[in-house]
Amino acid sequence: HLPPIANEAYQHYAPGSPERAAQRAALEALERETPVRIPCVVNGREIYDGAELVEQRMPHDHRRVLAVYRPLDEALVREAIRGSLEARQRWSRTPADERAAIFLKAAELLSQRYRYRVNAATMLGQGKNVWQAEIDSAVETIDFWRFGVKYMREIYAMQPPENVPRGVWNRLEWRPLEGFVAAITPFNFTAIGANLPSSPAMMGNVALWKPSDNTELSTWMVFQILREAGLPDGVIQYLPGNGPVFSGVCLTDRHLAGLHFTGSTRTFHALWQQMSAQLSAYRNYPRIVGETGGKNFHFVHPSADLDWVVPHTIRGAFEYQGQKCSATSRMYVPRSLWPPLRDRLVSEMQQIRVGAADDFTVFMSAVIHRRAFERIRSYIERVRAASGTAEVLFGGECDDSRGYFIQPTLVVTTDPQFVTMKEEVFGPLLTCYVYDDDQVEQALDMAADDSEYGLTGAIFARDRHAMMRMTDRLRDAAGNFYINDKCTGSIVGQQPFGGARQSGTNDKSGSLLNLLRWASARAIKESM
Ligand code: ALA
Repeated sequence: HLPPIANEAYQHYAPGSPERAAQRAALEALERETPVRIPCVVNGREIYDGAELVEQRMPHDHRRVLAVYRPLDEALVREAIRGSLEARQRWSRTPADERAAIFLKAAELLSQRYRYRVNAATMLGQGKNVWQAEIDSAVETIDFWRFGVKYMREIYAMQPPENVPRGVWNRLEWRPLEGFVAAITPFNFTAIGANLPSSPAMMGNVALWKPSDNTELSTWMVFQILREAGLPDGVIQYLPGNGPVFSGVCLTDRHLAGLHFTGSTRTFHALWQQMSAQLSAYRNYPRIVGETGGKNFHFVHPSADLDWVVPHTIRGAFEYQGQKCSATSRMYVPRSLWPPLRDRLVSEMQQIRVGAADDFTVFMSAVIHRRAFERIRSYIERVRAASGTAEVLFGGECDDSRGYFIQPTLVVTTDPQFVTMKEEVFGPLLTCYVYDDDQVEQALDMAADDSEYGLTGAIFARDRHAMMRMTDRLRDAAGNFYINDKCTGSIVGQQPFGGARQSGTNDKSGSLLNLLRWASARAIKESM
């Protein structure tokens, strides 16, 4: 009895449009409410007291405090684990249709009632312009919930094909995992914040959610939407702040059933190590699903059409200040195309407006926080210090006097192993390597093998034979691969997202494959 599941329609926020007026009004209303007080929520109980509150500040104006949240502590995490295991008793036996109805209702609430409010929180708190907020906190969050329901049903329909021999009834029971899931979510997508605890919960699991310290405003709203939609107390526990305490308690608990993580490679390694150190203490081997860093490429073939390369590269590298895990950060360009491509990129970059996230005329805003600002600036300084090997062709200016602003930056290097061709910068910095036109194969080898990451990549070509050859050669280099398109912007239900190598476990969010990780099948054979 489900309505057809389709991607949420994207709103354009054109000047003078009603949605722009509504978004402006929501921004103003939210600003009047700030700083918003945010509790820990355990078993439905909102806990504000008992610890010093922590501030979430605005990236484009760090004097402004948007939210103050009550950080978790060890006792609360332990209480949350106990409560979630109790909630699990009922939730894991709640019929799938009832669970589905809650997430579909949440999608409707976000689509119809809270869209502009959550967009506003994402814009102010995470430094997204209105279009980046719309594709994330509105469209992608709604899509995760709606498509999750579709995939859940498809999983439950997966049954053994044959009941043989006669007199036997074989069936698969798709059980939730035994225990609780720890969901640790990143700053760069409100939708990922929503999805990481939601997808296990949809499948009948309980989850403890530790949102990023820099998304409290938006993730708190998402959590409230889930509650309003009818999610029972204790199914998802909301526990902001204090990451090390959260992981220290959750990952050493006997009942940990899974880790659903998006964040840095370094943190993922640390969490995995923590878990592997005590495998025999767990009741079950916990599922580990992680999506981490990337060093994503655009590979330009000599047959490429620059009319495709230029706009896609500008968007892939600089939308959301290069802070998508999928962002374009290294590019391979044939010498014959380099002069016109360089000039056109620079000319486009000159037009990029950088400013306050709630200014509807900006393409880029500030990077998330001081640490990010310092890290990106240090990479720019390393380029400047590497004269002869690498050079800043455009941008490079950094200004943190009011917000954490870094201009879109274009670098060219003669060394394919140069630090910004290898390490994840996670900011608006694109490094180009120029190869000789008769060295396409060697350049392809570099794109294919030189990175420890394997998240996203794109090729640009008109020559169809070259396109197919490159697609084959780059098979292991990216879990999301694009032909004549930017390497960002996967859509739930259309391009399942995730990469291998050091980029993660490639469990493809936005697809049945991810939901499958949150079920543990029991094969039942009944003789009659
Ligand atoms: N799924 C996001 C993208 O593809 C990260 O850009």
